[in-house]
Amino acid sequence: MYNFLWLTFLCLSPFLEYAVGLALPDSRTCVIGAGYSGLAAARYLKQYGVNFTVFEASRHFGGTWRFDPHVGTDEDGIPVFTSMYKNLRTNTPRMTMEYGGYPFPEGTPSYPTGTCFYKYLKSFVKHFGFEENIQFRSYVMSVKWANRHWELTYMNTADRANYTVPCDFVIVASGQYIKPKMASFPGMDTFRGKIIHSHDYRDPAHYEGRRVLLLGSGASGLDLAMHLSNVTAKLVHSHHRKYNEPYFSDRYVKKPDIKEFTPNGVIFEDGTFEEIDDAIFCTGYFYSHPFVDKSSGLTLSGKFVLPLYRHIVNIRHPSMTFLGVVNVVITRTMDAQAEYVASLIAGKFKLPSQEDMLRSWLDHVHTLQANNKKIVDVNTVGDDMDNYFANLTAEAGVARVPPIYKEIRDFNAVNRLDDLLNYRDYDYEVLSQHDYKRSYMGQRSLQCPLEI
Ligand SMILES: Cc1cc2nc3c(=O)[nH]c(=O)nc-3n(C[C@H](O)[C@H](O)[C@H](O)COP(=O)(O)OP(=O)(O)OC[C@H]3O[C@@H](n4cnc5c(N)ncnc54)[C@H](O)[C@@H]3O)c2cc1C
Ligand SMILES: *[C@@H]1O[C@H](CO)[C@@H](O)[C@H](O)[C@H]1NC(C)=O
Ligand SMILES: *[C@@H]1O[C@H](CO)[C@@H](O)[C@H](O)[C@H]1NC(C)=O
Ligand SMILES: *[C@@H]1O[C@H](CO)[C@@H](O)[C@H](O)[C@H]1NC(C)=O
Ligand SMILES: *[C@@H]1O[C@H](CO)[C@@H](O)[C@H](O)[C@H]1NC(C)=O
Repeated sequence: MYNFLWLTFLCLSPFLEYAVGLALPDSRTCVIGAGYSGLAAARYLKQYGVNFTVFEASRHFGGTWRFDPHVGTDEDGIPVFTSMYKNLRTNTPRMTMEYGGYPFPEGTPSYPTGTCFYKYLKSFVKHFGFEENIQFRSYVMSVKWANRHWELTYMNTADRANYTVPCDFVIVASGQYIKPKMASFPGMDTFRGKIIHSHDYRDPAHYEGRRVLLLGSGASGLDLAMHLSNVTAKLVHSHHRKYNEPYFSDRYVKKPDIKEFTPNGVIFEDGTFEEIDDAIFCTGYFYSHPFVDKSSGLTLSGKFVLPLYRHIVNIRHPSMTFLGVVNVVITRTMDAQAEYVASLIAGKFKLPSQEDMLRSWLDHVHTLQANNKKIVDVNTVGDDMDNYFANLTAEAGVARVPPIYKEIRDFNAVNRLDDLLNYRDYDYEVLSQHDYKRSYMGQRSLQCPLEI
């Protein structure tokens, strides 16, 4: 079996390197990506006096929280990584997304707009003053282990040349929702309309008066159903989620799975046909780390990265770490991971030996197997989230993420599906470590009291 082959291989593999947890003079930490996660790392690295550079491909920080009207490639001809669209509001209460010790101002609604969250990131960067450490227009092409350090090669999008710099530590924070996962159906190539992935969706205005097929009912699928049902001439939504489906609009029609496309429409599994003009596939994302070289010793796929200790540390080469390669967690998790990594690099704590880290990872894999889970679940935390936070605190002394956030997250995950059209009209207030209050906010829920 696939799993067992892996375990054997890992157990027999030699342990090559062990030199982490020392802030060497003259050393440099390289962070890849200036989204929420990379910015969190920058804040702690600066605070702990670590020498670092953040390599960001685009001309901007903020990652997916920055709206960019470009689709496909940007003004510098590199891929557009952000998936942000007009009118987006967070689908999780903001306290589960705030950086440790840096809350939104009083009066910010619990479900701010995407624009408001981007403003929050801007105010964070200004407050901690590390923008000069971000090197923009530096598209990382490869990270290789050579001669006891990392060699990071990036393309400068101004002169199109490649540059290679040595790094003692690498923090990969290049995002989780950057490579769209497309679906494919018979007849798709004969369809005369335009089919896009939700990654390329920007503005409901493009769909005014059109007959649109929406595929999928994950976070994006349900959100776009709300955004488009009163804009389009007809919104045909193919999905098989069971939930408390609201009344969207007279123009909304729910359909089962797609059987095939025809030149002017779609035939569904139940044999019905709908004429459509455009289609939007909300079919999710793959992990993508094309720049991580084989010399990292990792196995990377669209669905998992292994073996990582605490979903963070490359066990084969512990001076390479990842932020955000973790599923079913609140966004605050990446802040805790960033503090963990910065503490490690600053020498505030030491990792276990590689052998012990591997043992811990194997225990994790055995538990997955015992629960009939698969290797694709290896980076999922989910219900273990609070233990995960407790572990990060116990091992590295990072600020304890309040357990109440997981409770709020769990309530929200259910409430969103129970009351899709209205769940964002409420406000949450944390009263104590174990209590919160939820109250109706109505239209006030759109304000953003951040000046920047
Ligand atoms: C549409 C959408 C809505 C979301 N809404 C919510 C929400 O409501 N609540 C919530 O908790 N989470 C939400 N998320 C999850 C969101 O991903 C996290 O909140 C957070 O933005 C993750 O930040 P990140 O820094 O890990 O990744 P990103 O924000 O994707 O940032 C990655 C950065 O790395 C850069 N980069 C990528 N590759 C390279 C390279 N090779 N070289 C150099 N730089 C590179 C990119 O340009 C980008 O700036 C949403 C995600 C999406 C896509
Ligand atoms: C910081 O990193 C740069 C680039 O590698 C290096 O030139 C410099 O000496 C480092 N500074 C310190 C204080 O370590
Ligand atoms: C830069 O590096 C990439 C990846 O290694 C390579 O494909 C590309 O051709 C290089 N560009 C230049 C200008 O050398
Ligand atoms: C669409 O408009 C109708 C009528 O104004 C309204 O009842 C419905 O809630 C709207 N749908 C959405 C998803 O906003
Ligand atoms: C927390 O640490 C314990 C002890 O190392 C381990 O058994 C457990 O799997 C960890 N849990 C999580 C969610 O990280």
